Amino acid sequence: MKKILVTGGSGYIGSHTVVELQNAGYEPIIIDKLSNSTEAVVDRIERISGKRPAFEKVDCCDLEATEAVFKKYGDIEAIIHFAAYKAVGESCSIPLDYYRNNLVSLINLLTLMPKYGVKGIVFSSSCTVYGQPEIVPVNEKSPIVPANCPYGNTKQICEEIIRDTIASGSPIKSILLRYFNPIGAHPSSLIGELPNGVPLNLVPYITQTAIGIRKELSVFGDDYNTRDGSCIRDYIDVVDLAKAHVLAIGRMLDKETEKVEVFNLGTGNGTTVLELVKGFEEATGVKLNYRIVGRRAGDVEQVYADCTKANEVLGWKAETPLSETLLNAWKWQLKLRDEGIM
Ligand code: UFG
Repeated sequence: MKKILVTGGSGYIGSHTVVELQNAGYEPIIIDKLSNSTEAVVDRIERISGKRPAFEKVDCCDLEATEAVFKKYGDIEAIIHFAAYKAVGESCSIPLDYYRNNLVSLINLLTLMPKYGVKGIVFSSSCTVYGQPEIVPVNEKSPIVPANCPYGNTKQICEEIIRDTIASGSPIKSILLRYFNPIGAHPSSLIGELPNGVPLNLVPYITQTAIGIRKELSVFGDDYNTRDGSCIRDYIDVVDLAKAHVLAIGRMLDKETEKVEVFNLGTGNGTTVLELVKGFEEATGVKLNYRIVGRRAGDVEQVYADCTKANEVLGWKAETPLSETLLNAWKWQLKLRDEGIM
């Protein structure tokens, strides 16, 4: 079985990807410093797949500790690098923490890969690199614009670090995956998103409001130039997204391809905030308390993906209907209550 090192493998997208790697016959090894997740996730992954992934509590910024993992497992074929800080607002208050964590971890992995014969790295990037695109949907050739926060900048710089390293002759390959807005949870309700404190993202805020943890959802702006005035995003189911990583690993390892490839991962459909709220109410039968408030600083008006390249080249397509994804997000929130976690 091919060993795949999954950094941040106990986090939200990481944990769903570990399950899909196991389903596809790979042997994932999780490395996570548990700054935004817990080791209990490993038990839950085992409950879903029947297989316990190897787990190492290690910070990828610690070169020695990370190297020890490469040594311990030997013949790691590839890496999926999720481990990163990801809060837009927080990155503006503690930029150095963001640059240190997100850049040093990647630099360490790229340093170790050739020494241990690791062939490729799949990198978690974001549609944030496109800023507000002039034309939507955006394809992979759309211009990269200056980031509007340190978090977004780390994604751009990391993409460049990978390109420069490969251009310099490092014997590795890479696939950069630009996620749109990942939402939802595993249909088993055993894994999902566990936001720390007050959620910043829309769907966790919606589910927490629906269950009564939050009083009401603030809809940030209804005066945008969109069909109902609220912002448009491309909400992609986390399990669909996880499956794209498995295909990326297969492509990178088994096919003759360009050394660096980029894919947008979204559904191709733009959904407004108000449509999402309505979709949640319809999917779950739960009425949502919400209020329109002013715009949130830094929000782009609309961004959604042209996924033709992922469809045709990677052979991947988002499959889960939005209603099902929202229902899974709601079932996960109910599960967190049942288990007394939240
Ligand atoms: N929104 C609300 N109310 C809320 C939260 C969000 O109306 O309480 C709106 C936002 O204004 C936006 C949409 O819902 O129009 C989605 O907002 P999110 O915060 O869920 O996600 P973003 O599109 O802002 O994405 C950002 C970054 C991504 C990053 C992602 C996850 O741009 O790069 O957050 O952290 F990956």
